[in-house]
Amino acid sequence: GITRHYKFDIRLKNVTRLCKTKTIVTVNGKFPGPRVVAREGDRLVVRVVNHVSNNVSLHWHGIKQVQSGWADGPAYITQCPIQTGQSYVYNFTITGQRGTLWWHAHISWMRATLYGPLIIYPQHNASYPFAKPHKEVPIMFGEWWNADTEAVINQSLVTGAGPNVSDSYTINGLPGPLYNCSAKDTFKLKVKPGKTYMLRIINAALNDDLFFRIANHTMTIVEADASYVKPFERDTLIIAPGQTTNVLLKTQPNPPQTTFVMAARPYFTGQGTFDNSTIAGFLVYDLHNLPSSDNVPSKNLSIPTLPPINATSFVANFSNKFRALASEKFPANVPRNVDKHFFFTVGLGSNPCPKNQRCQGPNNSSKFSASVNNVSMILPTTALLQSYFFKKSNGVYTTDFPSFPLVPFNYTGAPPNNTNVSNGTKVVVLPFNTSVEVVLQDTSILGAESHPLHLHGHNFYVVGQGIGNFDPKKDPAKYNLVDPVERNTIGVPSGGWVAIRFLADNPGAWLMHCHFDVHLSWGLRMAWIVLDGELPSQKLLPPPADLPKC
Ligand code: C2O
Repeated sequence: GITRHYKFDIRLKNVTRLCKTKTIVTVNGKFPGPRVVAREGDRLVVRVVNHVSNNVSLHWHGIKQVQSGWADGPAYITQCPIQTGQSYVYNFTITGQRGTLWWHAHISWMRATLYGPLIIYPQHNASYPFAKPHKEVPIMFGEWWNADTEAVINQSLVTGAGPNVSDSYTINGLPGPLYNCSAKDTFKLKVKPGKTYMLRIINAALNDDLFFRIANHTMTIVEADASYVKPFERDTLIIAPGQTTNVLLKTQPNPPQTTFVMAARPYFTGQGTFDNSTIAGFLVYDLHNLPSSDNVPSKNLSIPTLPPINATSFVANFSNKFRALASEKFPANVPRNVDKHFFFTVGLGSNPCPKNQRCQGPNNSSKFSASVNNVSMILPTTALLQSYFFKKSNGVYTTDFPSFPLVPFNYTGAPPNNTNVSNGTKVVVLPFNTSVEVVLQDTSILGAESHPLHLHGHNFYVVGQGIGNFDPKKDPAKYNLVDPVERNTIGVPSGGWVAIRFLADNPGAWLMHCHFDVHLSWGLRMAWIVLDGELPSQKLLPPPADLPKC
């Protein structure tokens, strides 16, 4: 591989959307941020200079960071944030991965405007397991707030209430013609007839799963979270925040019109007033016999029908459809024997309201909180990985994260019990090469919600999933250990469970969390510490000299 250098200047920029101009934090003045491109085996060196008053930290979502945990990026987990006027160089090699990933800020809600694609091509002598597409196009979904997003989440944390929802969804930063003043801000995908395009779809929205469809076209899904899957065809897909999906889009050989609408809208938002809006973009054919379509009339075009907001069975069916390619070249290395079993409840609960505060959370007196096994993770004030590496864990974290819920209960029972959450900075310590199974069970205590759970530093295999309570007697017998999909983010179904397996073969401190930023901020996160192995190649390398200080 080669070394590729990028310079990221974190700067303010005025951007106008929905008739309002707002100052946002950007990389190099771009929104969405710049595309990072590399090949499997390359080294990426990204120098980040912070010119704004907010602290920042960037995460390379889905990159395994083998031995290079210092470059992973979640603030207070692998590094202290980069303060105003400071810089940090993210330096890592991309080993054994190719496909669509992305980068985003990993501190507070800064990722609302700080995100971009991270595209890894196969090595020079390697090819895709499908015919090379005519063209490749990144499609990033996002959310736009007229308000300052830091103020939105900070207010929620103080009052205990749910935060305001966004004012629009976006495709590559553009809301599209269904929103006020936004016809000129419409994403257009220009295509030629009879060709195959690869769409690299990324959900960078803060808090919503999204359905996506292109009118009169189907898509063949070929990759998920930068892992190849057995191809399958659909007219509609669903994608959770943090997930990426590559699809092949065959354009029509003789389209009857130049323009087709693509549309996305949420599956289910948790708290606050539900925002039912749809973003739209255009698929525009370059046809010589039909008039140019640069100014497409939006009124006469039909918006493709998307599943209803609560289409839980559509989502379960879609999620179940993913299978690893599991070929000779791309085997599924599913751990067959499990060294350590974990059972984690994930969901919302409540914290008592602190004295002298007015809280507007559930039950009037309390604050919204979110937790894993009833532990809501408080971020330390110094980086977890530093404390671990320099053996100064005292007072920073404890190693008693519960492997099972402390108080068992019936997750689907009513009325719900055991909603009380305690705060802590607790980790699970795993010896090198531990093979781990985690059953993630949604508690559905304060409303049924899906939780896109994301693991740092490793991919996992999704060996099982189901609705209702996980049954430890019956469900494991049905696990797929042959071709389960390999991912970094999986939706724990609302009122259901998923079982994942991974090999803890990457030393470091690794966050696992819900990729809805509101749940993340409320504490739906925990961390694993994976110990060094014996061989030099199994040890975390020492931190770079410019690692930010708190
Ligand atoms: Cu995409 Cu912890 O992040």
